Amino acid sequence: MSDIALNSVTKSFGGVKVIDRISLEVKSGEFVVFLGPSGSGKSTLLRMIAGLETIDEGTLTIGGKRSEHLAPGQRDVAMVFQNYALYPHMTVRDNMAFGLRNIRMDKDKIEERVQTAARILEMDALLDRRPAQLSGGQRQRVAIGRAIVKEPAAFLFDEPLSNLDAALRVRTRVELAELHQNMKSTMIYVTHDQTEAMTLADRIVILNNCRIEQIGSPMEVYLKPASRFVAAFVGSPGMNFLKADLSGRGAEQVSTLGNGARIALQVDLPPGAYELGIRPEAIQVTPSPADTSGKATVVERLGDRTLVHLHLDDGTELIALDGGLSEVRPGDTVHLKFDTSQLHLFDDDGMAHHAR
Ligand SMILES: Nc1ncnc2c1ncn2[C@@H]1O[C@H](COP(=O)(O)OP(=O)(O)O)[C@@H](O)[C@H]1O
Ligand SMILES: [Mg+2]
Repeated sequence: MSDIALNSVTKSFGGVKVIDRISLEVKSGEFVVFLGPSGSGKSTLLRMIAGLETIDEGTLTIGGKRSEHLAPGQRDVAMVFQNYALYPHMTVRDNMAFGLRNIRMDKDKIEERVQTAARILEMDALLDRRPAQLSGGQRQRVAIGRAIVKEPAAFLFDEPLSNLDAALRVRTRVELAELHQNMKSTMIYVTHDQTEAMTLADRIVILNNCRIEQIGSPMEVYLKPASRFVAAFVGSPGMNFLKADLSGRGAEQVSTLGNGARIALQVDLPPGAYELGIRPEAIQVTPSPADTSGKATVVERLGDRTLVHLHLDDGTELIALDGGLSEVRPGDTVHLKFDTSQLHLFDDDGMAHHAR
């Protein structure tokens, strides 16, 4: 069952198209993340679902009901923003109840819903506090509570963690994942942060230039990016890109790198110029001569692993992932082995082709 369906929706601002015929189905109970750089249309698409932006063309269905012409209050969704804007003079209880009082819901029913939300969010003890007496993370939980009490068919989050400091962001992220597992509600979550997308999503929708670049599970988009854009956007540190000249045919194909190194791979592509993509963890630092070698420039120790920044002798820059106890020192010449099953070739149009 799909809870939210967009069919070929389009949106322009002053003649400039920002959403171009996007179609998408979100299943009931699914956690879908819209991921993309700033300005890629994530918020606009979410706001079109919420009813805060009109839909120029196309249709929207929420819970089986055609919704593109409904007012925001008539759509069965609740939105949580980055700027959660609680009422400072109201208690947590009143902040959560406010929207329900506005629609004149029965008093007892409101109290019951506030209690339930407080229990889910573990805020029972904080109901009589005012926002100033709460931490940033607790305030964000009140904002989520305001959405929970509406018992919507779907929750819409627009960068809800952006205002929190780094440690709190990680903690609140885990809480959100738990919340989704407990409530099993449909959630759509907008972020520019690929780590949030990877850790929270059942499926990630990657937006770029008014369009969907790829839809897939976190590991699908990580291991089999559909385009150079996705390959570069997902993963930290990012994928390495090298100039490659492809020759040969079938099982005998060889990519010649800018420094002359020859890498055998199987991609079944016409010979010619491509960009070769390889993630840091697919480049192994080895003691004996291997696929190619480079000079270590910077060695970043992260404790459990080490990022070795390298220059090949044609000037190409690479990052290889080594163990926590890496013996590489800046200035060392190191040998590199490429895992050829984790190579990608990108053509002139940015389309990805994955090696076997
Ligand atoms: N109300 C508006 N009027 C004009 N242009 C807008 C408006 N809202 C968004 N845009 C433009 O639409 C594009 C997508 O914006 P947005 O959806 O906010 O991107 P994101 O959330 O991915 O950063 C941007 O180019 C932005 O400038
Ligand atoms: Mg935005």
